[in-house]
Amino acid sequence: MAGSTAPRTSQPLDTEAMLSVSSRHAKSSAIRDLLVHAKRPGVISLAGGLPAADLFPTERLAGMTTSIVSDPRVLQYGLTEGEVDLREWVAAHHSQLGGPSYAVDDVQIVSGSQQGLDLISRVLLDPGDVVVVADPEYLGAIGAFRQRQVDLVSIPVDAYGIDVPVLEDRLSKGLRPKCVYLIPEFHNPTGTSISIDRLTMLARLSDEYGFLVIEDNPYGQLRFDGDPVPSLASLTANVVQCRTISKTIAPGLRVAWMVGPAWLIDAVRIAKQSADLHTSTVTQRMALSIMSDDEWYAAHIAGLVPHYRERRDALSEALSQMLPEARFNRPSGGMFLWVELGDGPDTNKLLPLALDEGVAFVPGAAFAVSRAADQAMRLSYSTATPETLTEGVARLSIAIRKSVR
Ligand SMILES: Cc1ncc(COP(=O)(O)O)c(C=O)c1O
Repeated sequence: MAGSTAPRTSQPLDTEAMLSVSSRHAKSSAIRDLLVHAKRPGVISLAGGLPAADLFPTERLAGMTTSIVSDPRVLQYGLTEGEVDLREWVAAHHSQLGGPSYAVDDVQIVSGSQQGLDLISRVLLDPGDVVVVADPEYLGAIGAFRQRQVDLVSIPVDAYGIDVPVLEDRLSKGLRPKCVYLIPEFHNPTGTSISIDRLTMLARLSDEYGFLVIEDNPYGQLRFDGDPVPSLASLTANVVQCRTISKTIAPGLRVAWMVGPAWLIDAVRIAKQSADLHTSTVTQRMALSIMSDDEWYAAHIAGLVPHYRERRDALSEALSQMLPEARFNRPSGGMFLWVELGDGPDTNKLLPLALDEGVAFVPGAAFAVSRAADQAMRLSYSTATPETLTEGVARLSIAIRKSVR
């Protein structure tokens, strides 16, 4: 009745039951929670996984923006699969990497490789499926897989990358994964790269046991020493590759891509339609403009490498001098150094003390899948100057001395 003043009954929401089962399984990222503290004024953060903002090609990006957005087609809705020119560039680029030759339709542009991992998980994984990951492992991948309520099986990592002989042993005893997640170069968080022997073995196993490898390689271009690891795609067809511009151009553009078998790429395309229709055409155009200028892009990457190398050297040197008990591998590229303190303090308990001294890191437990990593920590050398890194380690060593008193 119009104008009725009858009180509406209010039914409180059962908020527990409101969230979907998969959301109830999702946990907030420990890194994100910790970064709040790392942003305290005066704190030297060795915690974040960000590329160095002072190395972004800001001038070049700013210079091209007006002309890119002057074309109304760029501001219109775009194709879910991504801009054809960019996909052509990606297909040609991957074809040159020594694997099979790719066509435009083998390429899907995504809004960051994190979206690629999420979409692959959505189209590939059902609750209870087995997914093999390294231990410790990149949190973003773990999060994407856990959303699907899969059975995560973890394999240890050593200086030669994920321990494929251990995986082979598990397979011979009946393990049947649907997929294996692999960061082949400069693993986040351990900084290690897979050896050629293990890579070859992994390719053979994927053929023998019929699983897909998700090859996520955001750091490969930031190589300081040694030879690049070839893509698994040169050894088996059972692979989907994820690549991103986040570490070489800028993560804020949210441009990345996947290259893989048609059955998977087609399904991902449909899932992406529901997720965000398409990746920003403006930033796809920016990425293409930079990457298709071969000479400039190669020089840009060559210019990034010495900066990161110098920072790795400063952090490794400071650790050797000030924390001789720390065990770590000097990574040949990327942004991370994994430090084990042996009989040292529990790094979860060390963190508040370190913050009091003015330095932040990520405790190993944040990346642990099923093996404890309570005496380990991930240190990132990407954003601090060599002097700041040295000061950060000095503060860390004070916190460690205080913690063992
Ligand atoms: C191993 C790994 N994969 C994927 C990502 C996400 O990258 P993107 O910015 O392309 O989403 C990161 C970011 O840190 C990463 O370390």
